[in-house]
Amino acid sequence: MTLDRRQFLASAAAAAIFPLRLHAGPQVIEAREGVAQIAPAPHGMTPIWGFDGLAPGPEIRLQQGARLSRRLVNALPQATSVHWHGIRIENAMDGVPGLTQEPVMPGQGFDYEFALPDAGTYWYHAHNRSFEQVARGLYGPLVVEEADGPDVDDDLVLMLDDWRLDPETVAIRDDFDNGHDLSHAGRIGNIVTVNGRFDPSFSVERNARLRLRLVNAANARVFSLGLDGMSGWLVALDGMPLEAPRPLEESIVLAPAQRADLIVDVTAAEGEIASVVELQRDGGYGLARFEVTEGSRMSRDMDPGPLPPNPLPDLERWQDAPRHEMRIEGGAMRWLDSAMLGDTRISGQELAKLGRFWALNGRADRPEDPFLEAARDSLHRIRFVNDSMFPHGMHLHGHHFRVVGSDGLGPWRDTVLVDRGETVEIALRADNPGKWLLHCHMLGHAAAGMSTWFRVA
Ligand code: C2O
Ligand code: CU
Repeated sequence: MTLDRRQFLASAAAAAIFPLRLHAGPQVIEAREGVAQIAPAPHGMTPIWGFDGLAPGPEIRLQQGARLSRRLVNALPQATSVHWHGIRIENAMDGVPGLTQEPVMPGQGFDYEFALPDAGTYWYHAHNRSFEQVARGLYGPLVVEEADGPDVDDDLVLMLDDWRLDPETVAIRDDFDNGHDLSHAGRIGNIVTVNGRFDPSFSVERNARLRLRLVNAANARVFSLGLDGMSGWLVALDGMPLEAPRPLEESIVLAPAQRADLIVDVTAAEGEIASVVELQRDGGYGLARFEVTEGSRMSRDMDPGPLPPNPLPDLERWQDAPRHEMRIEGGAMRWLDSAMLGDTRISGQELAKLGRFWALNGRADRPEDPFLEAARDSLHRIRFVNDSMFPHGMHLHGHHFRVVGSDGLGPWRDTVLVDRGETVEIALRADNPGKWLLHCHMLGHAAAGMSTWFRVA
């Protein structure tokens, strides 16, 4: 039988509609347009960009040691890519256009396939024009489960975001490259959501023990979180277990891209509401509600113990490691005099016209040469000196590091908040070969100059 052109087109269309997973090959994750109820009813739906049309995208949950494999299909009108934030990944899968892969053009795809060495709470997000694409909703949770996880009744991801919507139409405001945001604190929104919803509600039993995986997916907002009607421990930061659970006595500060895993016991009584609250504004406001239902369990009143450790490199003798300074300069009230952009020195005023307001060690944008050439497995210390009037969440790709404290090394992280005027030193072992980005995770800052890279040979 021969097909005429019409039949041929019809059967080709049918083939495209049938799920690709019928064929051998990776599961597809499609970056596409969608709609979401971001603002509460009676407001209407907001057009978003999301993985599989959702914001957040589908939760990916795998066991430690498993391989993650997804075919990204780009159905957006703009090139994109996926970065698997916090995964100590092989370089070619890191998702950075222009450094580790080509951008994935509209209508094209890219196969991601890699091992998951560490258990913990991670996330994935677009890494092309992130300051726009993440703000439009292109991100989702990635959970890697321990073979032998803690004893909890429920395990919930709470993914925080901060949207800037038009108050009338509830459309996402498209002023992504607004110079005021880029040169100040970044794109701060006007509605905060958890898992894409304003004030979502969960139902939990009295005395239940929960694992809460908090992820800050906002472009620029730093959250300061507290609990009401629940109490417990901080057990992991940026995916990596703390050596010992830390009782939750103070607020939990989460810079963009940071994660915190909590194990909490519901202490509110049946019929009451427990909540996760944002503490920054006058007395705080609730972000997520937990309606407490009747339950038969007794409170556990036992410390959950530490999570099983991940196979992180040893940092012994970090004190002997070479120290590299990274000066963070620019932004409003400390405007750049000038900086290098590529091979050219450009005045601050000219840079501002190009939408560049920040420099790392005197360079705006990712330079041709890396800021650091590291021999494989060598130890390094990086000192972030924040000479600006704004906080920055500095993120290293492909590696976790430890923050140097007054009494030794602090917790493992992949993103560290460096407050204005502050100096923060980190120590790492450069054990993952390839080209790795280092940038501010206030995504507008990264786009406006705060991006560099290092190479591990
Ligand atoms: Cu989560 Cu380079 O970023
Ligand atoms: Cu910044």
